[in-house]
Amino acid sequence: MPNLEDIQVLKMAVCIFPNVTTLDFQGPLEQFGYLIPSRLQNNHYNPELNVPKYALDITYVSPTEELVYPMAGAPMKGSTTYDKVLAADPPEQFNILLVPGGFGIRPNVIPPSLLKFVAHQAPGADYVLSVCTGAWVLAQAGVLGGKRATTNKAVFKVAKAATEGQNITWIPKARWVVDGNFWTSSGVTAGIDMTGAFMEHLVGEDFARKVRNRLEVSVRKQDDDEFAEVYGLV
Ligand SMILES: *[C@@H]1O[C@H](CO)[C@@H](O)[C@H](O)[C@H]1NC(C)=O
Repeated sequence: MPNLEDIQVLKMAVCIFPNVTTLDFQGPLEQFGYLIPSRLQNNHYNPELNVPKYALDITYVSPTEELVYPMAGAPMKGSTTYDKVLAADPPEQFNILLVPGGFGIRPNVIPPSLLKFVAHQAPGADYVLSVCTGAWVLAQAGVLGGKRATTNKAVFKVAKAATEGQNITWIPKARWVVDGNFWTSSGVTAGIDMTGAFMEHLVGEDFARKVRNRLEVSVRKQDDDEFAEVYGLV
């Protein structure tokens, strides 16, 4: 059994909201799930995995205490709300934010408490990750200015137009884009590819690859994006 005291625990917030696309965060989570402390304690199920440098303490944050209905999939409940985190005394700071997208995310339709949460948390976070239209949340929260980013190619032009004047460099052909500690991915399944690379960055290539092998997931390279062409962006 690994000595968990040797592992640094990072706090990750997964943002949920009505009409979220479940796969946007669940795809990444199937990989991040190998870093949950309780799972690391049962590492005998994964004998080939070395002890990672980091574990992830994951919190699901929601606009309300009520059930949240995703676009597809079972209703779910957050473990806390954006307002509760914002009101926490002493203040709570997450190390990693994971912001998925979905139909609930369109400019001017994003829950205000989610925008406030991201605006407060992003500046102090070690990493900010978005999948699909989750990048619009970052843009609307005002934390993507001066950065390179990407989003779902089906709505790429809309996102670009909606964020004009914010000095965001939207990259059309990319499965994901890294700018400093901001990682933004293209649509839905691109979050799985980005997480593959992010896991390599966080806990090393060997651990990340073995997790992907367990999941039997093949990931694309960063610029292997056929959808930019599909939507006439390049
Ligand atoms: C836009 O962002 C770039 C890169 O961070 C920065 O160099 C530039 O000064 C910014 N421009 C404006 C008008 O803020």
